[in-house]
Amino acid sequence: MNDIEQLNEQFGVDQQIRFYSGNGRLPTVEMVNRFGKTAVSIYAGHVLSYQPHDQEPVLWVSQLAQYSEGKAIRGGIPVIWPWFGAHPTDDTKSSHGLARRMAWEVVGTQASGDSRILRLSLTDNADTRAIWPYPFQLTLTVILDHTLTVDLAMANTGNTPFTITQALHSYFTISDVTQIAIHGLDQTAYLDQLDNMQRKRQSGPITIDEEVDRIYVDTTADCVIEDATLGRRIRIAKQGSGSTVVWNPWIAKAARMGDFGDEEYQGMVCIETTNAADDKVTILPGDGHRITAVISAEPLN
Ligand code: BG6
Repeated sequence: MNDIEQLNEQFGVDQQIRFYSGNGRLPTVEMVNRFGKTAVSIYAGHVLSYQPHDQEPVLWVSQLAQYSEGKAIRGGIPVIWPWFGAHPTDDTKSSHGLARRMAWEVVGTQASGDSRILRLSLTDNADTRAIWPYPFQLTLTVILDHTLTVDLAMANTGNTPFTITQALHSYFTISDVTQIAIHGLDQTAYLDQLDNMQRKRQSGPITIDEEVDRIYVDTTADCVIEDATLGRRIRIAKQGSGSTVVWNPWIAKAARMGDFGDEEYQGMVCIETTNAADDKVTILPGDGHRITAVISAEPLN
């Protein structure tokens, strides 16, 4: 039996939860219910797609995304952990932590009624300790019902406290970045990553006509992408997160990224459920923390 057969034998549920060899031959799982479907790469614990049956894909993935072990996948929902952005003290370490470049494992699935559930885990090992010295346990739970819920639970399994920043770094499919409005952050302060982390204040909905890379602080609000051309609203609700990042690379940065098409910035935006900047989380030995994003899409009427 190969890995895929084994996964299907142990965790597959007929017509509802199915493992297959995905892009780059990465073991991938698709969950389907009467509302829609989602695909998740076991490698990196990475949600690759979410699509309600009657809609365009909600999540965006680059045509140039690389699917291979050790690389981060451009699009979907990378798990950014245990640091967001540059490493706080060591710039030889990769941005956005280690979880999005590690092999995760399946620990459970469940299908009951309209709900499909997948649980993946990542435990510290020699590879993670070479990058970050602490013992930990991560569990990623992906729930497909009438929405998509992504929940990252983390535990400190060692003897010393550690402090993390993190993100459920969701990339969304939109019609045209210059035509959408993002609601939910009016009057919220943000740190402008493109202007020396200067603190500014949002006024009105966010509209985008240039590179945007902002950490909105002290916010637990839902964000809503209003997309008149696609005729829908995408809502991102969250828990365990006190900051939200909004990112679009625009023309020059898109051109610099090897795994991002030159024109692709037009059809995507990231709204990231985070603990970023000063929104750090300290976890004591034996304690844990959870960060959750609930993503839904509804027609605009
Ligand atoms: C965002 C950051 O979260 O991720 C941006 O705010 C960054 O600064 C982007 O460019 C993509 O990061 P990466 O490491 O996936 O290229």
